[in-house]
Amino acid sequence: MTELQEHAVHTERAGHASPERIIQLGLAFWGSKTLLSAVELGVFAQLSQGQRDGEELAATLGLHPRSWRDFFDALVALGMLERENGTYRNTPETDLFLDPAKPSYIGGILEMANARLYAFWGSLTDGLRTGELQNEARHGGDFFADLHKDPERLKQFLHAMTGLSAGAHAAIAAKFDWGRYRAFTDVGCAEGGLPVTIALAHDHLTGAGFDLPSAQPHFEDYVRSFGLEDRLTFHGGNFFEDELPASDVITMGHILHDWNVDQKRQLLAKVYDTLPDGGALIVFEALIDDDRRENAFGLLMSLNMLIETPGGFDYTGADCQSWMRDAGFRETYVQHLAGPDSMVVGIK
Ligand SMILES: C[S@@+](CC[C@H](N)C(=O)[O-])C[C@H]1O[C@@H](n2cnc3c(N)ncnc32)[C@H](O)[C@@H]1O
Repeated sequence: MTELQEHAVHTERAGHASPERIIQLGLAFWGSKTLLSAVELGVFAQLSQGQRDGEELAATLGLHPRSWRDFFDALVALGMLERENGTYRNTPETDLFLDPAKPSYIGGILEMANARLYAFWGSLTDGLRTGELQNEARHGGDFFADLHKDPERLKQFLHAMTGLSAGAHAAIAAKFDWGRYRAFTDVGCAEGGLPVTIALAHDHLTGAGFDLPSAQPHFEDYVRSFGLEDRLTFHGGNFFEDELPASDVITMGHILHDWNVDQKRQLLAKVYDTLPDGGALIVFEALIDDDRRENAFGLLMSLNMLIETPGGFDYTGADCQSWMRDAGFRETYVQHLAGPDSMVVGIK
């Protein structure tokens, strides 16, 4: 067959195939960066105070006359703003989730994505070739140690965690049988998004947040803003070296994926030793589906761990259950939480 004939057969086989999906995915960063810049510039914060004429909004935000119309209208076309007679307003979703003045704000994760991850993902190919992380720690630093030395960046990161995990936190508070337990500890609690959500939903529980010591003021400020300081306390320490507070439920969200498999097993063994008989461990992440072909967010999160950590990776529910069983947990199950997130529960 000549090259021309081969081409004809190939085209025929492709039938009605369209390059649309490929182009959309390949250039998806256009839309992503447009949203991230809108958060950075305070578009949604400005519009939370009421709808605004485009030119006036552009002047308030300091935008160039060449850029603002395409920028705002692209946000309209992307479903992030609404426009009527030249005035712009937030959509119900962006008003609820991207107004920094509302407790439902989830923009922390987008602020972090814009300030850090967007540039680091630019060297994904290097990471894929070398297996080495591509963030600030690339030249010998330690991600969490460096983060905890920089109060402004730490605050941004801990707050970003609250936004990223908000849906999973609400689902854990609602779906787990908390009535059987009295005290819980959230290990790697960041500013305390999960302890606050659980405590607000279950009056009978007291809780602890465990994290590196420099997270303490951020945790205490956040807990105090909900008036929960009598029921939620902070314990500072290193979870590889220090004892965890005694409690009958231990939660760990987006912790195991930061570490290599030996470190994951080490943490599970420590939690097992800390819990009483009948106590429960709840691990939650953007768990990859067991067949590793459905949860694209979980798989991309694992690539994000390649960018961010020396040995971390995300994993399936089956992987986690087998590590839990090896650690001694007698009963384990996986339950979907919200969006890409699921929990793996182990009962001692
Ligand atoms: C990816 S965040 C997860 C935050 C939160 N659990 C969630 O799901 O949103 C990991 C957390 O673990 C904490 N952490 C990292 N290394 C730690 C260590 N060795 N000991 C205690 N906490 C640690 C970090 O400070 C950070 O708050």
